[in-house]
Amino acid sequence: MPNNPPANIDIDAALAEAIEAYRARNPKSLQQHEAACAAMPGGSTRSSIYVEPFPLTMVKGEGAHLWDLDGHEYVDFLSEFTAGLYGHSHPAIRKAVEAALDDGVNLGAHGLAEARFAAAICARFPSIDLVRFTNSGTEANLMAVSGARALTGRNKILVFAGGYHGGVFYFRGKTAVNAPFDFLLGTYNDIAGTRELVAPHKGDLAAILIEPMLGGSGCIPATREFLADLRALADETGAILIFDEVMTSRLAPGGLQEVHNILPDMTTLGKYVGGGMSFGAFGGRRKVMDWFDPRRADGFQHAGTFNNNVLTMQAGLAGLTEVYTPERARALNDFGDGLRERLNGVARRHGLAMQFTGIGSMIGIHMTNGPIRNAADAAKADGRLRDLFFFDVLARGIWLAKRGMIALSIALDERDADRLVTAVEEFAETRAPLFGDAA
Ligand SMILES: Cc1ncc(COP(=O)(O)O)c(C=O)c1O
Repeated sequence: MPNNPPANIDIDAALAEAIEAYRARNPKSLQQHEAACAAMPGGSTRSSIYVEPFPLTMVKGEGAHLWDLDGHEYVDFLSEFTAGLYGHSHPAIRKAVEAALDDGVNLGAHGLAEARFAAAICARFPSIDLVRFTNSGTEANLMAVSGARALTGRNKILVFAGGYHGGVFYFRGKTAVNAPFDFLLGTYNDIAGTRELVAPHKGDLAAILIEPMLGGSGCIPATREFLADLRALADETGAILIFDEVMTSRLAPGGLQEVHNILPDMTTLGKYVGGGMSFGAFGGRRKVMDWFDPRRADGFQHAGTFNNNVLTMQAGLAGLTEVYTPERARALNDFGDGLRERLNGVARRHGLAMQFTGIGSMIGIHMTNGPIRNAADAAKADGRLRDLFFFDVLARGIWLAKRGMIALSIALDERDADRLVTAVEEFAETRAPLFGDAA
């Protein structure tokens, strides 16, 4: 096509040009990255947010907006991978944190806020009779899985390809540092395959650990039938069913367990539930959680200096009870459903192999129009086009995850949504010729 700019000759050339423009636009972030490499491997303390050719350094957030070190402003459509649900420095959260600071932190004792926060969580999530706090979602999953092993006296842990449950529970690719549990790796949304995988190990199955929607792997919802079958499988085998709702708990007032009306034995939480502070929690049926009762001579140990840190307890309590009320949760997720529909409308109008998946306030971006039921389906999409999408919308002031993820915060409004739709529309218009080139 003679009139096309050179970058649209093919995907690789377009991507190379977009990366060059990114380098040129962000010299201070590059410099910061190089300086950070002196004291941290790869200049990063968080593998999941590192991106090539180098990550941007953000210096300020306010409401739904972010500013990077080079002075560019972005609309924040990532919301800290779901943890930033309240937007930046929400007044109710700020007030709660300030109140906590006023009364002193690190008191080395039980406080008042933790029992109220725990009660709010138990009231909200249908399967949680009792809850305990940790400092991260990773730690919550470590405690839940370790508890399930101890309770059942068994070893095998069923997880699913594409699942992510923390730094030592990574099933999105290869890693040598997963926790040394005896994992069985199933295929998401595959009932027959999962049953076949488990059959020889039924007597040794301790736990089934699943995200009711794959989050980091592209917002791929589990079917109700699949989750119901896992519930049945746990009942048949005596295994503990654990729903990792670290991300998905935001998708309805009581999380996806409420939406599907399928109750796990244990649930893990994290992210926004701590009001944006470091947070994790595991909870569940009374008869399971009673094992963590310190009054019990045969109970399980679960200590942690910061488990009841007052900043998280107060911020989380304010967030859940004053801000992200059930009504607000429904409104945010309706907003997300509407936005996803508009984005899919752009893809349809331009006839592009591009789709936006997910539920409510979490949206996955995939450069394919084939069905996406699991991580292998998602891997068939063209990763180069997804990278190009990232660089193109970034240059138009949209912050989202390079791997193709959007999470909405309550600070976003219709104008922000319009800005995203316009950026995607412009991407579709400029890059349509490349889609014929895709794998
Ligand atoms: C579904 C899921 N579980 C667990 C975790 C781990 O939580 P954290 O990063 O707080 O350790 C994450 C983090 O992204 C997650 O997405």
